[in-house]
Amino acid sequence: MANVIEVENLYFEYKDGTRALCGLNLAVEEGVKAALLGPNGAGKSTLLMHLNGIHLARKGKVRVMEQEVTAKNEKWVRTVVGLVFQDPDDQVFSSTVWEDVAFGPTNMGLALSEITDRVEKALKAVRMLDYKDKPPYHLSYGQKKRVAIAGVLAMSPQVIVLDEPAAYLDPQGKMELVEILDELNRKGNTVIVATHDVDLAAEWAEQVVVIKNGRTLAQGGASLLAEESVIVEAGLCFPVVARIFQQLPELDLTHTPLTVAEAVAVIRERIK
Ligand SMILES: Nc1ncnc2c1ncn2[C@@H]1O[C@H](COP(=O)(O)OP(=O)(O)OP(=O)(O)O)[C@@H](O)[C@H]1O
Ligand SMILES: [Mg+2]
Repeated sequence: MANVIEVENLYFEYKDGTRALCGLNLAVEEGVKAALLGPNGAGKSTLLMHLNGIHLARKGKVRVMEQEVTAKNEKWVRTVVGLVFQDPDDQVFSSTVWEDVAFGPTNMGLALSEITDRVEKALKAVRMLDYKDKPPYHLSYGQKKRVAIAGVLAMSPQVIVLDEPAAYLDPQGKMELVEILDELNRKGNTVIVATHDVDLAAEWAEQVVVIKNGRTLAQGGASLLAEESVIVEAGLCFPVVARIFQQLPELDLTHTPLTVAEAVAVIRERIK
């Protein structure tokens, strides 16, 4: 399958001289669910801001659907790649929740009936329709995060990138988020999530990318999350399911289960 995102030897330095990305490489296949992991300050948010043209590559390349992202196609790239920021206060700013979610579709020049339809669907998906007339600054942080997610859903981008989407969501909200992301993925969207939550990544992701110090440390399938060298070097921890089975060497498993479903299958097999 074709790569929807390609990042090649990307460097980025902030104005104060901080080197946030130092020759980073990355490829994400079209239609996958990908998780980006790495310690605080690894460069995840900086990288994500390159995927929809907020930051433009000065050294190295970022390609979206085989087009190099440049100042000339920034507008196009924002319609293809929707980014939910790590901090909803950077994203949610209109005077009502409804207006906020309508901002993107309105800028896309859509007809009013289409905008209304999209905003309603997006707010329903994140269970925030009841709050549509409230000013976003009166919402809790987790509610603002939901509104920020709705704002991107309403634009229907092909690639949806979420920076720490589960932070501040309650357990139910986190499960609903996973359902929303899976539904989008079933419809053919590529979904990329930056997260510290190794359990979420283990349960959900088909592709895992681990970054540290502005470089890619490892990329591959979810089984990377059971690899000690990667986990230790990236300052992560093993998913809880993997931790249980690591303490049961007597089971002599060929690979470590990472998800609840895999764990249940192994246990069922053994208690037959
Ligand atoms: N506006 C900025 N100006 C200067 N340095 C910055 C700025 N934003 C981020 N940095 C620095 O760039 C590096 C990468 O930061 P980034 O926010 O991309 O990391 P991250 O992997 O998203 O971290 P976290 O897990 O904490 O969200 C860090 O060293 C950070 O201090
Ligand atoms: Mg970040």
